[in-house]
Amino acid sequence: MFLKNCWYVGAWDHELIDGKLLSRVLLNERVLLYRGESGKVVAVNDRCPHRGALLSDGRLEGDAVRCMYHGIKFDGTGKCVQIPGQELIPPKMRVRSYPVHEVGHLVWVWLGDPAKADVSKILNLPYMTDPNWKGLPGYLHYDANYLLIVDNLSDLAHLAFVHTNTLGGSEEYAYVSKPASILKNERGYTLERWHTNIDPPPFHKKVIPNKHDKLDRRNRVNMYVPGIFDMATLFAPAGQGAETGAAVPGTREYRNCQFMTPETDTTTHFFWAYLNNFEGSDSTISRSLLDSLIEGFMEDKAIIERQQKTLEEDPAFESQMLAIRADAPLVHFRRTLSGLIDAEQGVAAAVGSPAAVG
Ligand code: FES
Ligand SMILES: [Fe+2]
Repeated sequence: MFLKNCWYVGAWDHELIDGKLLSRVLLNERVLLYRGESGKVVAVNDRCPHRGALLSDGRLEGDAVRCMYHGIKFDGTGKCVQIPGQELIPPKMRVRSYPVHEVGHLVWVWLGDPAKADVSKILNLPYMTDPNWKGLPGYLHYDANYLLIVDNLSDLAHLAFVHTNTLGGSEEYAYVSKPASILKNERGYTLERWHTNIDPPPFHKKVIPNKHDKLDRRNRVNMYVPGIFDMATLFAPAGQGAETGAAVPGTREYRNCQFMTPETDTTTHFFWAYLNNFEGSDSTISRSLLDSLIEGFMEDKAIIERQQKTLEEDPAFESQMLAIRADAPLVHFRRTLSGLIDAEQGVAAAVGSPAAVG
């Protein structure tokens, strides 16, 4: 079950260049995304209502798409505008269209009640379009439910063990650093974690000149419904008061933006960008970070996809998993999301005892 009345990332804008007809399953629905010749992005159901051919196997004509089985043509609103050899177009002959809007180089799609789609509610992360923040867009496909990826991102202690030689740097991260604060809200949470006087972790070390200077590291995470992770990372020269808010010369920052969109109950589209504010004109830094992040994400993917299999082998296990204190953000997020889904479906919010944390 998914939250329907919500904006989800359906594609990067660059995926729709050159009149490409992009077929993508979102929340178990097969959606066709394309940019019409006017520049407007269209999202319609990908199944031709005539005999079920895929419209994405069809042909773009202006802002319309023609099914290349029997040639029926639909405009960008899903309305049928031509049936070859037939004058009368029955009003029922149309495809469902979805509200769609571009923000921050991302194509956002609304799969719920179109009357409730409000583009002002789309999360706008300013660094996605700010030229001072550099980075390359990424995409991975996961054979796992999207909430397992949200869970993974909700406890940064996993950096220590999953990413020791890539994004983490040492197992110490899990022992000596703790979230300094966790602020829960109605659509997610914010947490902050400091790890001071450390060696630069491998991904950062590759792109900085002073590779052996000690650093203070801060990760500040925002997680939003339905599954959007936005982390501000800072590396400052150690011991100069960054933790107290001082502006320390030589500080380098990253913005880690990840958008999890369910494809099906057991698969996920994972869009991400890892942006930095210090590369200037040296684009090899963005390239190195892209490679490092993929290396790190593949470490997550192996664990998370195996977790998915474990849960499929024994579905009862999901409600038997044992929580630890660090799961508080995870538990809050899942509870928040299921409350929103219940409310959307008109179900009274579940009033059960919360999973134990502690
Ligand atoms: S299936 Fe599309 S026109 Fe016949
Ligand atoms: Fe990870």
